[in-house]
Amino acid sequence: MKGIILAGGHGSRLHPITLAVSKQLLPVNDKPLIYYPLSALMLADVRDVLIIALPGDIPQIRRLLGDGSHLGLSLSYAEQPVPEGLAQAFLIGAEHIGDDDVALVLGDNIFHGNGFYDLLATHRRDLDGCVLFGYPVTDPERYGVGEVDEDGRLVSLAEKPEKPRSNLAITGLYLYSNDVVEIARQVRPSPRGELEITDVNRVYLDAGRASLVSFGRGFAWLDAGTPESLLQAGQYVQTMEDRQGVRIACLEEIALRMGFIDAEACHRLGARLSRSGYGSYVMAVADEMRS
Ligand code: DAU
Repeated sequence: MKGIILAGGHGSRLHPITLAVSKQLLPVNDKPLIYYPLSALMLADVRDVLIIALPGDIPQIRRLLGDGSHLGLSLSYAEQPVPEGLAQAFLIGAEHIGDDDVALVLGDNIFHGNGFYDLLATHRRDLDGCVLFGYPVTDPERYGVGEVDEDGRLVSLAEKPEKPRSNLAITGLYLYSNDVVEIARQVRPSPRGELEITDVNRVYLDAGRASLVSFGRGFAWLDAGTPESLLQAGQYVQTMEDRQGVRIACLEEIALRMGFIDAEACHRLGARLSRSGYGSYVMAVADEMRS
């Protein structure tokens, strides 16, 4: 399975913060926002990832993450000059996807909770069509919304409906079979001129090939698109990390635990950052795995 992080957009709800810096590089507590969606793909055992961003933002993102080889990943970059819809990711990424299935994650989405790895492994293995992940929210009209019947089967999808038929928001993590590229090619732009991911998902729904997996209580899904949600995300991460002494979305730790790199390599990565608490943590994790 290939991965795509869609990290474009102008971050206009965060202006002026994002006038000179990509939203995905803003700090969420102790690390840049893009670490969180990348960690979700890594936990899904996806190692070949295309990062799509505005042309002007790519040099900085590349400076941060490079080609990913230090993490046992293969990272490549592609430009989306104008944000013309989430489904454009499949057109820009068609060559990268090749003959594989693909996981798409939005660059400002944060997922955290027990059982995430197992959930991803199960749904990746059984993938036929598309898998969407739902999350109960108090303001579903801000999101794509999924409606399920009493057996938990997905029955309708709507993008930012005025009158939502449920409180289940569709999160920014999606798993697709390879035919998503072909489907995205056939979708027409919405009235606001965008290739909507919900229209792609509806094609799968109509074909009986879409499923919705609900993240339960106790799971955290956050997006960081506004000053309030960015701050809330930072506070959430800080609270959890301080309380438990473990870091969320520490890429070096995940690479080590997933077997993408060994403890020696992990320790070296931590040593490069050793003046920060993050670096010390990476070294400590490596030491623990070595002993
Ligand atoms: O966060 C989950 C929601 O994401 C879903 O529930 C919705 O169904 C989905 O449409 C999307 O809604 P948003 O209102 O959050 O979409 P937005 O246009 O803000 O884009 C989400 C992120 O993707 C944002 O960080 C910018 C980036 N983006 C967006 C577009 C339209 C791109 O990189 N390229 C684009 O063309």
